[in-house]
Amino acid sequence: MNTKDNSARTYGSVFDMLPDEDNPTPLVRINHLNPAPGFELWGKLEWMNPFGSVKDRAAWAMLRQLEERGEVTKDRGIVEPTSGNTGISLAGLASARGYHMRAIVPNKVPMEKKVLLRIFGAELDVMNDNLCPSPGMGEGAIGMARSYAKAMPNKYVMPNQYENVANREAHEQTTGPEIWRQTQGRITHLFVSLGTCGTVSGLSRYLKAKNPAIKVVAVQPSEGHDVPGLRNISELHVSKLFDPALIDEILEVDFNRAYSGALALCRREGLMAGPSSGLILEGARDVLTRDKPASGLGVAIFCDSILKYVSSMIKHLPELAVES
Ligand SMILES: Cc1ncc(COP(=O)(O)O)c(C=O)c1O
Repeated sequence: MNTKDNSARTYGSVFDMLPDEDNPTPLVRINHLNPAPGFELWGKLEWMNPFGSVKDRAAWAMLRQLEERGEVTKDRGIVEPTSGNTGISLAGLASARGYHMRAIVPNKVPMEKKVLLRIFGAELDVMNDNLCPSPGMGEGAIGMARSYAKAMPNKYVMPNQYENVANREAHEQTTGPEIWRQTQGRITHLFVSLGTCGTVSGLSRYLKAKNPAIKVVAVQPSEGHDVPGLRNISELHVSKLFDPALIDEILEVDFNRAYSGALALCRREGLMAGPSSGLILEGARDVLTRDKPASGLGVAIFCDSILKYVSSMIKHLPELAVES
């Protein structure tokens, strides 16, 4: 039996399952929630990655880079600040390789993600921080991870998704070519979110090199939001990969719509998308309702699934709660 055969979906290990142009995550058409007849809207299902989110791409690129440089070993593991998904991807990859992982997460990260980090064997520090790690000196998750890497250089190296260009390059090398091939070069619009900005910057660089007319729309949650992984522009100073020149429009959407949007994707399209996907969908719908394009093809990046947000969904939509 072939140990790596994408068409038969047989793989020698979890590492062979990681996505690339020949093994892309699915692109699925949005049929009921697309307000623009004549315009095709597609969702890229990033939860189909082995560790359940878009961050598998950046995590694998950063880990590979550390391995190539000999900076991670059986004795020297990784420490990373994370709102959950990068940590889960890194922890899964690290455990399969036999490396130690320490994740520093803000306390507002959903309980499901914190437990998943432990399930994958990561040591966990929970910080009193903003939802997405902030650059607080010594106190926030980013400062804490830096302190570990500095104080214990023989034990930890910090991949640092907020500054590491391998994060952006992962999308130039995998997500971008996948979308270009899957849409046969017909893509006209990209709908994406802002976190570390690896996804938006990498995709925009790749796709605009192919066709400069492609419109890149970044959807941001309104201030005071509680959508893990996402940043409002007021929180973006920490993301060194943010490059406004690569974005055509930044659209703000009320953060509560992240949760109603996720519910709509589950109920109307049968797609088990999480809140950042819900927010991106709502942003795409706003643009299409406003601009009424008669033709074109948009791709929305659906970063992870609803399964990690059951407690958050109940908080936002109490009618979902089940009495025990
Ligand atoms: C659920 C979710 N959505 C969106 C993003 C944003 O992706 P990026 O960090 O590439 O900007 C993240 C990043 O952690 C995420 O976890």
